[in-house]
Amino acid sequence: MEKKRIMSVFGTRPEAIKMAPLVKELAAREGLASICCVTAQHREMLDSVLEVFDVKPDWDLDIMTPRQTLSTITSKCLVGMDEAIDALKPDMILVHGDTSTTFAGALSAFYHQVPVGHVEAGLRTYDKYSPYPEEMNRKLVTAIADLYFCPTENNRENLRREGITENVFVTGNTVIDALRTTVRENFVFATEALNRLPYESKKVVLVTCHRRENYGQPMEDIMSALAHIARTHEDVVLVYPVHLSPVVQECARRYLGDIPNVLLTAPLSADEMHNLMARCYLVLTDSGGLQEEAPALGKPVLVLRRETERPEAVTAGTVKLAGVARDGIVSMARQLITDPAAYAAMAHAVNPYGDGSACRRIADAILWRFGMGARPEDFQA
Ligand code: UD1
Ligand code: UDP
Repeated sequence: MEKKRIMSVFGTRPEAIKMAPLVKELAAREGLASICCVTAQHREMLDSVLEVFDVKPDWDLDIMTPRQTLSTITSKCLVGMDEAIDALKPDMILVHGDTSTTFAGALSAFYHQVPVGHVEAGLRTYDKYSPYPEEMNRKLVTAIADLYFCPTENNRENLRREGITENVFVTGNTVIDALRTTVRENFVFATEALNRLPYESKKVVLVTCHRRENYGQPMEDIMSALAHIARTHEDVVLVYPVHLSPVVQECARRYLGDIPNVLLTAPLSADEMHNLMARCYLVLTDSGGLQEEAPALGKPVLVLRRETERPEAVTAGTVKLAGVARDGIVSMARQLITDPAAYAAMAHAVNPYGDGSACRRIADAILWRFGMGARPEDFQA
């Protein structure tokens, strides 16, 4: 029987980290041919992931430009995808999550009447502008998709409320699959400064911040809070791998560039990031992926946002929303830095987002859809 051609489309760092293990799982299945098409909405940050996970794209749209707008990303992806689909002739296209690449990839698949599988489906805040533009991207992809791979039962429930009940699978999040391949006890960092951090004698606080809805005043307030935390706690070392967005770079360097116990680094490779997270004390972030990874590693997270589409770890007690106001962030961080009981209450490993078998379930579901296997069992937290 001819193999079904499954084309994974992704373009940013988090999509790549979460799709790389799936690209490999699909390639290992007899009935499937795994094709990889990258938009390169991110360039350096994407290439780093491809290298760590040893994934070689079959097609590269190479669309990134400095300070790119949402319209240019979407339109360049759409035009580029026409050629990729015509050349590679997929039987199904997989998109991931909620980026502009995700939306354009799904829309392009629809234009070519190719069925779409949505990996990481069903996340919602129900606030159109937060996260922006991600909340709208994922809703639009929901309308287009044919198969839905939800990380959690809660995500499936969100889809059910929107009337979507067919072809929905609860798989766990593929990020946990990725994490299982990267974290090692004897890991040596390529970024030499990370090997020399005082993990035992000080509190290493890992920070990331990049969201578009935080650009402007919220980001200024977040950076000001981080500066204050570092200046008022000598026993803290703040480590911040700064996203390559020029908006973020400028703001981070202005507030944090000259503080002795703040280490600003270039974006870390995924394996460095995961191992740093495994060794740190606390995570402060507006990232989606870090909210999923840190709980699995038993690290408390303060989310630098007003809402989250990932309530599972909040319920489990390892993640709290800190908001974007300076004083709120400072006081919540201070509590975790100075109060051992408050810290201990949050620092326990939980796995609401997966058991490391998400890719297996997704590949099984795709084979089931083509009549080549049994329907997979759902992930249960
Ligand atoms: C994008 C996604 C966001 C996701 C984030 C993950 C959209 C609209 N946003 O946001 O959902 O959370 O990725 O990081 O899809 N840049 C480089 N090199 C790189 C990557 C980025 O120089 O490897 C710079 C470029 O100047 C680029 C800018 O960063 O224009 C912003 O990148 P973009 O993909 O537009 O937005 P992100 O904030 O990264
Ligand atoms: N990450 C990384 N290097 C970094 C910062 C983050 O490898 O310097 C990883 C992180 O571990 C997670 C993913 O990138 O797997 C999250 O990406 P990001 O925060 O950019 O996007 P989001 O998840 O918010 O969409």
